[in-house]
Amino acid sequence: MSAVTVRAPAKVNLRLGVGPLRDDGYHDLVTVFHAVSLHDEVTAVPADALTVTVEAVPGARVALDDVPLDDRNLAVRAARLVAARLGVEPRVALRLRKAIPVAGGMAGGSADAAAALVACARLWDEPGVPILGRAELLDLAARLGSDVPFALAGGTALGTGRGERLAPLPAAGTFHWVFATASGGLSTPAVYGECDRLRGDAALPWPPATDDLADALAAGDAKALAAALGNDLQDAALSLRPSLRATLDAGTRAGALAGIVSGSGPTCAFLAETAEHADALAVALAAEETVRDAVRATGPVAGAAVS
Ligand code: C5P
Repeated sequence: MSAVTVRAPAKVNLRLGVGPLRDDGYHDLVTVFHAVSLHDEVTAVPADALTVTVEAVPGARVALDDVPLDDRNLAVRAARLVAARLGVEPRVALRLRKAIPVAGGMAGGSADAAAALVACARLWDEPGVPILGRAELLDLAARLGSDVPFALAGGTALGTGRGERLAPLPAAGTFHWVFATASGGLSTPAVYGECDRLRGDAALPWPPATDDLADALAAGDAKALAAALGNDLQDAALSLRPSLRATLDAGTRAGALAGIVSGSGPTCAFLAETAEHADALAVALAAEETVRDAVRATGPVAGAAVS
């Protein structure tokens, strides 16, 4: 096989309930992941050694300088993990084409990891009787990061544990989103740490209910979904990046059904009623000083797949 290209989607957490800090340094989560039509692509080409290059999808404004090209890159780690599992050498050139904001709270690195897992498994696994079935790929994904299993699965799903345990949630129709990116990323551990600091010793109602959200999704009701959106990391992201308040306010002024910080931020997600409404919202947000780029997307979409 000469080359395999896999696309994997970005995510937004429609609800991100952050529970107590665990002994392993992670927080228990109750979250609803939603995959949106903003994709990174990974092409895996047989090579003498493991290398990685990164470029932007034409037209996408992503901060390529912030993508590590060593073993901190999750796609590189994914290739090593698949090679180790299959007992082969990781002789592959990975070419990343990015549209998902870097360190933006949309799981771009996790999407690259999921895409690299699928691409390398396709390159190196037995064609007829693959060793790496769906369940085992999900297991490898969970070892790479909390959001990687969802980038494989796609759709809309309830995530528990540290986010790696997934149960699909039925969603009717298509939801229209605008994502307002910001200049400079936010560190996920720093945002979780700020969340702990802001909470102090306050009692935590846990676990949160998600029935209202599940009902809105099943009904395909954008207004009900807007009312059900929520992110426990939002106050922490706003505390570390106060300018996000101006972005959220601008979305509300421009008529978004709702706006939230996406994951650990700094990207903000705005829900629109229709495709036309989203187009208008994107134009209004793009004019804001605190917004680097306003990107349209729809959800839910499928998880990592060979393209
Ligand atoms: O799993 P991942 O490597 O993406 O997590 C990055 C960081 O985010 C963790 O090191 C941790 O600080 C924080 N995190 C957390 N609880 C989770 C997921 C992530 O505290 N459930």
